[in-house]
Amino acid sequence: MASLNFFFKLAVIGCFVFGAVAKGQGLKVGYYGARCPKLEYIVKWVTSQVIHKDPTLAAPLLRMHFHDCFVRGCDGSVLLESPNKQSEKDAIPNLSLRGFEVIDQVKAAVEKACPNVVSCADILALVARDVTFEILGPFWEVELGRKDGKVSILTEALINLLPPFANISTLIQGFQQRGLNVKDLVVLSGSHTIGVSHCSSFNNRLYNFNGKNGASDPTLDPAYVVQLKKKCPPGDQNTIVEMDPGSSLKFDVSYFTLVSKNRGLFQSDAALLNNKVTRDYLTYQSIKYGPTFFKDFGDSMVKMGRIGVLTGKYAGEIRKVCTKVN
Ligand code: HEM
Repeated sequence: MASLNFFFKLAVIGCFVFGAVAKGQGLKVGYYGARCPKLEYIVKWVTSQVIHKDPTLAAPLLRMHFHDCFVRGCDGSVLLESPNKQSEKDAIPNLSLRGFEVIDQVKAAVEKACPNVVSCADILALVARDVTFEILGPFWEVELGRKDGKVSILTEALINLLPPFANISTLIQGFQQRGLNVKDLVVLSGSHTIGVSHCSSFNNRLYNFNGKNGASDPTLDPAYVVQLKKKCPPGDQNTIVEMDPGSSLKFDVSYFTLVSKNRGLFQSDAALLNNKVTRDYLTYQSIKYGPTFFKDFGDSMVKMGRIGVLTGKYAGEIRKVCTKVN
């Protein structure tokens, strides 16, 4: 327990030191205008080819934009590589990100059409939207004009990315520090309607929960615990399971039904039942088949895309290659 406390303290300090809120000054839809008129067409074209071939890449590419924005703001810092493996992408929560080669492919296609114009941070934001749409999720207009940062530090990713065992107050605080509210939290958590998780992200809920011999998390549906235990033996780090079994490749509203039935995979999913606003939203979307989820999701993604952005003439740069500063 001491180590968890330590982690939470680090997270609070981290958000204070590195925190950046969702103001988004200077971002706008159509920012590149005549300087790269085919930008959105190119991104959509490459993305749709990729997802057609391998639809499992949609989830990690959506998640990549989130992991970029929560650490130093949406500045493409998650893409940078360091020779001694000390950048954000080397941090444990980012080791399960995939699809970096897709960003490189999109960037290369964009550079060919309009060299030195479009940032990698903007490409991430566009790709996140396009992959979501490709797997039948919502469409939203992406604000553009982010510059790329020049710094990427492993420990900042460890400190700023919320862990799957976060409780509701940690989650709310983590979002609020970045200018996102409680509604954004529950709406964006709806991303867990797609994709997979390693057993290691929730194994603590299945075995010896809270250090109690043989106990599983009482807030997790016992029938689901039985199913999950079959897939994830104690200590399993490598097996992956669908977060929304049966429809993990389709962006739909079933996450809210799952969580309402105590079948959210992470403690951070289950925690959404512990706050009135998030619980009411879950219940409403699950009972009414998600009447506002798609619209809400687009709105919250736009807000997330504003976190700590570098804009204007003198901030950041337009990287030539997304993995390296110029
Ligand atoms: C609210 C706090 C959140 C926590 C604690 C959290 C945690 C996690 C964890 C632990 C995984 C599984 C990683 C693994 O074991 O492979 C995951 C997967 C995922 N997360 Fe989240 N997440 C949160 C919010 C978000 C948000 C805001 C988004 C997007 C906007 C998002 C999108 C995803 C997606 C799409 C996946 C599946 C990735 C894949 O299939 O490779 N998550 N998340």
